[in-house]
Amino acid sequence: MSRAPLAVVSDENREAGFYTANAHRFDIYRTIHKALRAMMIDSLARAGRIDCDDADSVADTAGCIRDLLASCRAHLEKENRYVHRALESCRPGSTLAIAAEHAAHEAAIDTLAARVVAMQTATGDARRTAAHRLYHELSVFVAENFVHMVSEETTNNALLWAHYDDSEIVAIHDAILASVSPSDSQTILRWMIPAVSPDERARLLHAIRHDAPVAVFDGVRALADGLLADADRAKLDAALAA
Ligand SMILES: [Fe+2]
Repeated sequence: MSRAPLAVVSDENREAGFYTANAHRFDIYRTIHKALRAMMIDSLARAGRIDCDDADSVADTAGCIRDLLASCRAHLEKENRYVHRALESCRPGSTLAIAAEHAAHEAAIDTLAARVVAMQTATGDARRTAAHRLYHELSVFVAENFVHMVSEETTNNALLWAHYDDSEIVAIHDAILASVSPSDSQTILRWMIPAVSPDERARLLHAIRHDAPVAVFDGVRALADGLLADADRAKLDAALAA
């Protein structure tokens, strides 16, 4: 990676008031990217503290990394199908660079999945070596994704916000949500609910209460209760009672 740290959030954008000017626009990336970042941080930390002599530790770590890779693959597919199509229709060629990064991420996901298998099937010192290699490669994957996601949240959002109003971007977001399976939704919510700010969490739960059957909302509320610390649970209770 040759670019300087923070170059992705360019001075030009900040001087032009990018953040203040767009503070109230609908951000299609914000909460899903926060969920993915939380998932990546957790998986990387687990890979770092794995006990290669403990079968449960190896199985748990492998399972978490597989879940992360599946979520990343599904997320790439949704962005390609829904968001890149919207970007291309307002500026043809605008997704060429980001699509190439997506292709590289898909190849990395395949490699990491193979590394997980290699770690699980190895024994003794060979497993320790495989686990450390997996940790290194996963750390690079996470680092690349962190830069990539900020690029999407600035460069891609700038294009979306310039060409679409919020109702049109919400319609793209709704189409993505409608395409997500219930089990994938459950996985994402498990990470998204604790990863977002109280106001974002309240908006998320309000939307689910408005759009989904009562039983679905009750399930998400119970999930949130189990995931949140007392202070955040109290803030959510207050927001939902208002
Ligand atoms: Fe992306």
